[in-house]
Amino acid sequence: MSRKLLLKNAHIEGIETYEVYRKNGGYASTEKALKMTPEKIVEEVQKSGLRGRGGAGFPTGMKWSFLAKPDGIPRYLVVNADESEPGTFKDRFLMEKIPHLLIEGMINSCFALGANVGHIFIRGEYMWIVDILEKAIAEAKSNGWLGKNILKSGYDCEIYVTPGAGAYICGEETALLEALEGKRGNPRNKPPFPAVKGLYQCPTVVNNVETIAAVVPIIELGGEEYAKIGIGKSTGTKLISASGNINKPGIYEIELGMKMEEFIYSDEWLGGIPKGKRMKACIPGGSSMPILPNYLVTKTANGEDRLFSYEGLNDGGFESGTMLGSGGFMLYDEDQCIVRNTWNFSRFYHHESCGQCSPCREGTGWLEKVLHKIENGHGTMSDIDLLWDIQKSIDGNTICPLGEAAAWPVAAALRHFRDEFEWHVKNPQLCMSQNFGMHTYADARPIKVAQA
Ligand SMILES: Cc1cc2nc3c(=O)[nH]c(=O)nc-3n(C[C@H](O)[C@H](O)[C@H](O)COP(=O)(O)O)c2cc1C
Ligand code: SF4
Repeated sequence: MSRKLLLKNAHIEGIETYEVYRKNGGYASTEKALKMTPEKIVEEVQKSGLRGRGGAGFPTGMKWSFLAKPDGIPRYLVVNADESEPGTFKDRFLMEKIPHLLIEGMINSCFALGANVGHIFIRGEYMWIVDILEKAIAEAKSNGWLGKNILKSGYDCEIYVTPGAGAYICGEETALLEALEGKRGNPRNKPPFPAVKGLYQCPTVVNNVETIAAVVPIIELGGEEYAKIGIGKSTGTKLISASGNINKPGIYEIELGMKMEEFIYSDEWLGGIPKGKRMKACIPGGSSMPILPNYLVTKTANGEDRLFSYEGLNDGGFESGTMLGSGGFMLYDEDQCIVRNTWNFSRFYHHESCGQCSPCREGTGWLEKVLHKIENGHGTMSDIDLLWDIQKSIDGNTICPLGEAAAWPVAAALRHFRDEFEWHVKNPQLCMSQNFGMHTYADARPIKVAQA
């Protein structure tokens, strides 16, 4: 039985209200935090080993320790609630269902960072959650958890919610800061990093919703106890948004380090694949992370059990592994077309590129066009090599990681499913869609996938 820290009370009716949340132990961590020193809280977060849950997995305590020392100018905490990575919908659930958990985590974190203002930047498509958060903030304020002199500690804190306008790039932390300042959401060149010059050029920490929510159990349990949950450098629990060809799609909280086999096939978790079909591929970390072919999902290239953790998923590097990313788990059964899926992702990244750097602006467009050509039966063998060259020219040559997010899925699809791209080139008549482009290849194509 896996331990729950964030969703342990999610099933309680009315938990989104202050009254029920407080009755079930809510804000106890803030009572504790305000009696600690800010430095001690940062130390506990460092000890906990918590890593950012927004995608990059950067150690949170270390990020907090980089914040420029107080020198009379404001410092900010900015919560990244932009959540636009295809396949990722966990922050939505957390904010919708347990909004006070995020607010409690924010008060603790603002206090630790010496910030008197916390911002939540939320994707524009989550407008109804803006109302939920604002209601929860008002409840917290009227009960003395926000505003001036919280719990007579002498500490003041306010939280504001700002919706974006529906651009994926505003999830990149510096584009987010630009957008929060009311400008076009273009990523900034780094350095300087937000910890030195962030919001309004002031020291700023940007963290994901789930990361900040995890500060609540860290303060409750203490950093050392938290670090005992999970495995190795993958401590604690992680929210997984599970979708695709699985029996039980939804949001799950796993203890990091569980076996992928158990997560996919046991009835307690995803309950396997519908209609007895076979798994073809899986992306455990969201659309920008490399896809794994079936034989590398539950086992590593060395034949060991694949573990659901930062290190476990990366076992084998990009040759035979992937990354945990945001935990946007997507499973594909034997009927799904990898070329079509890759084209669909490329279409998204092309649409979302901010256009500042040419490898990303032009490259994502080329990827989309060439993939569309192959998918529709007009591709040549040299187009497959061209795809490889385009993704390589993007990777590592851009201002922000959206370039890699566009390149990695293409590279992994080519690495593991080249035979399927070749099949499209050799069978153009079968590519031309009946059903408006929605085709499956269960009969025509083997499930066998190419070895790297
Ligand atoms: C194109 C792009 C989109 C991103 N979208 C999000 C997002 O929606 N939510 C998020 O927390 N991080 C997102 N990130 C990562 C952020 O830049 C940043 O690393 C993260 O918010 C830091 O928080 P963490 O350390 O708690 O994970 C995105 C990055 C890129 C390059
Ligand atoms: S990589 Fe793409 S999204 Fe990022 S700054 Fe460059 S053009 Fe914009």
